[in-house]
Amino acid sequence: MASPPGKSQLSPSILSANFARLEGDVKSVEQGGAAAIHLDVMDGHFVPNLTIGPAIVQAVDRITTLPLDVHLMIEEPDRFLQSFRDAGADWISVHLETSTHLHRTVTRIRELGASPGVVLNPATPLVLLEDILEFVDFVLLMSVNPGFGGQAFIPRVLPKVSDLKKLISRRGMSASIEVDGGVGPENAAELVRAGADILVAGNAIFGKGDPAANARDLLRRMREAEG
Ligand code: DX5
Ligand code: ZN
Repeated sequence: MASPPGKSQLSPSILSANFARLEGDVKSVEQGGAAAIHLDVMDGHFVPNLTIGPAIVQAVDRITTLPLDVHLMIEEPDRFLQSFRDAGADWISVHLETSTHLHRTVTRIRELGASPGVVLNPATPLVLLEDILEFVDFVLLMSVNPGFGGQAFIPRVLPKVSDLKKLISRRGMSASIEVDGGVGPENAAELVRAGADILVAGNAIFGKGDPAANARDLLRRMREAEG
């Protein structure tokens, strides 16, 4: 994944953007220093909400050169990997809870030329990463129960980030840690200190004020935490 080593990155979630002026919102976070654009795909089955499909991913791909970080919250993700890749997805993450043949799924994502990631819900333990960690480029830890933007961060995920960091370094691996849900100015620094490499933020960036300024503010806190 294209990133300067040791620098944490911001991947704004357009779930909380204004879809009637998506281009402006995406350009704005680009100017604010975003490293990727996070797109939340929900199917109304795995999570109790419906959001975007490949058509919107493709539309976003046309308005930005940033990598598209596509978070699939869908059952049977294998059926749609090709479509999302064709639409421009660069990072594709699938939930461990939805994937019966997870190794096959992440291998397929890599074969399609995208970076594979595995996502864990807040109540899914790290121990389940044992046999898949070496096959993914990143692990996405959910810090809310997926389905909606604007929910409160679940504090238990903070020590989970440090535990995952230790697990990755103990095994001599280089997988990045992404954290998604309830991330904002009040917890960005401690998440980076705990070992998060990529922070996703929706409401904190698009909820109020200027998205570019909000992104810059989060990044400043992240940089300070890096020391
Ligand atoms: C939740 C999504 C998140 C969400 C984050 O199911 O996966 O990406 O957009 O939004 P905030 O930052 O508002 O919690
Ligand atoms: Zn997400």
